[in-house]
Amino acid sequence: MTQRTLVLLKPDAVRRGLVGEIVGRIERKAGWRITALELRTLDRATLEQHYAEHVGRPFYEPLVEFMQSGPIVALVAEGERVIEGIRTLAGPTDPIAAAPGSIRGDFGTITRENLIHASDSEESAERELKLFFPGLV
Ligand code: CMP
Repeated sequence: MTQRTLVLLKPDAVRRGLVGEIVGRIERKAGWRITALELRTLDRATLEQHYAEHVGRPFYEPLVEFMQSGPIVALVAEGERVIEGIRTLAGPTDPIAAAPGSIRGDFGTITRENLIHASDSEESAERELKLFFPGLV
């Protein structure tokens, strides 16, 4: 089942020079392709839409601040079961609980600064792809 998903490499990943490492892990999965990729700085309005489900949670404001603290890399990945697959490559939200071998498990310690976002379902992927890459067909 070929799918498309949105990935964000968060400001910590860009600041720490981990873009190549993380993009490389995605590229090396057989048959997966990166079909769009851009370095950009996010504005508050985009983040409010992206994180709408988290409004009111204690981590929401610091998260929105953090996501504006430097450039991010937004990319589109396509391939066999790529939505579930990139979530597996990323590991769970808390990097300390994430297994070694996963992106968060190998490089993260702080839950907010967990390096990568990846859409969690086909519905989220569709919504997020429209938000970040509105020109995509
Ligand atoms: P992600 O799962 O990509 O999207 C929601 C983000 O909120 C999550 O990554 C973390 O960056 C952040 N987040 C989630 N839970 C917490 C928490 N308990 N404390 C701080 N940040 C969090």
